[in-house]
Order: sequence, then structure tokens, then C-alpha cells
Amino acid sequence: MALSDLVAQFFGSVLRGLFEAMVEALFMAPLRAMGLIATKPAFREAGPEAIRPLRHRVLREGRPLEDAIWPGDDEARHFLLEWAGSVVAVATIMQNAFPDGDGPSLQLRGMAVGPEHQGKGLGAQLVTGIQEAVGEPMWCNARMSALPFYEKQGWTAVGETFEVQGIGPHRRMISR
Ligand SMILES: CC(C)(COP(=O)(O)OP(=O)(O)OC[C@H]1O[C@@H](n2cnc3c(N)ncnc32)[C@H](O)[C@@H]1OP(=O)(O)O)[C@@H](O)C(=O)NCCC(=O)NCCS
Repeated sequence: MALSDLVAQFFGSVLRGLFEAMVEALFMAPLRAMGLIATKPAFREAGPEAIRPLRHRVLREGRPLEDAIWPGDDEARHFLLEWAGSVVAVATIMQNAFPDGDGPSLQLRGMAVGPEHQGKGLGAQLVTGIQEAVGEPMWCNARMSALPFYEKQGWTAVGETFEVQGIGPHRRMISR
């Protein structure tokens, strides 16, 4: 892909994010508050293309768009929440053996809620939907900042803190 295409895609993703935040604040939030549109986002399984823009915006901001394309994406299962026509939360499930001995063989990755929607229960809704869809325990590498979120969903931290290069400290966690 040419550099100019990458730059155009990057700014396109930034502008789309700004536009979505503006539409949410000016129109969607007031309409929801008045009970005129659905109050709960819809959960569904999707292809990798549908989840990558939000994955990039939340988890790989400021990096090339390619950083949001991960090995194993084509074989993985992807899930999202859609709210008023926008993708507001995404996550991916990969078949990956637990790295520290006995443990689940499904890894939750790329858990991301749009910044303008964080703290509204969407992360919890997405994890619950995924748990019901996959029907078996999962593990993940949780950013330290997200550890309390997973604990609230009933997940347990195991092992020592470790560093993921360029991202920061993490703990391994297992769902119940
Ligand atoms: C972490 C993240 C997925 C949580 O999703 P969310 O929609 O903001 O969280 P929810 O609103 O569903 O929160 C559910 C519960 O967890 C708590 N919680 C969520 N994030 C928290 C945090 N960082 N610290 C403490 N508690 C937190 C909420 O207070 C809520 O508690 P309650 O059930 O008592 O009301 C989201 O904030 C996010 O995408 N963050 C940036 C990217 C990231 O860190 N992803 C995880 C990578 S491992």
C-alpha cells in the first residue's frame, strides 16, 4: 500500500472517530435519554474488517493501520456491539493455548470500547455476549489499567506482571 493511501486511511479513521463522537454527543445521547432510540447496543459476530477500525483507534492509536491487522485474524472469531449504526465495542477470540501450563485454549484479544462510550457497561455487555457465544473459559493478557474491569467480570489474575513491548505492563487473566 502506498504511503499516501496509509496517510489518507489514518486521517479518515481519525475524522470518522471525531464525527462519531460529535453525532453521539449532539444527537444520539439526547435521543436515547428521551427514550426515542434503543438503549442497548446489539451484539453480533463479525468479520475482521468490521472490528479493525475501532481496534486501531482504541488500541493502536497513532500507529500504522497495519498494526491493527493481527496474525490469526482470518481464523479467529470477532464480536462487536453496534449502536445506532456505529460499532462501539469490539473483541476477538483466538484459539491459542494458555502459555503457562494448564488453562483455557481460547484467548480474548483486542478488547476495545470507543473512548466516548467507555464506562457505560458496554465492555461488560460484550464480554458477557462472548462468554455465551463461545461457551467455555478464556484467558487474556490484560493491561494493568483494565485489570479491575476483568475482575468485575469475574476473571482472575494469575502469575507475575510482565511487559508487552511498546504497550506496557500486563497480567495474565482467566475467566471463570
Ligand atoms: C477496559 C474497557 C474494555 C472496559 O470497557 P467499559 O465499557 O469502559 O467498561 P464497563 O462500563 O462495561 O465497566 C464494567 C465495570 O467495570 C468497571 N471498570 C471498567 N473499567 C475500569 C477501570 N479501568 N478501572 C476500574 N474499574 C473499571 C466499571 O466501573 C464497571 O463497574 P460496575 O459493574 O461496578 O458498574 C474499556 O474501558 C476500554 O476499551 N479501554 C481502553 C482499551 C483497553 O484497555 N482494553 C483492554 C485491553 S486488555
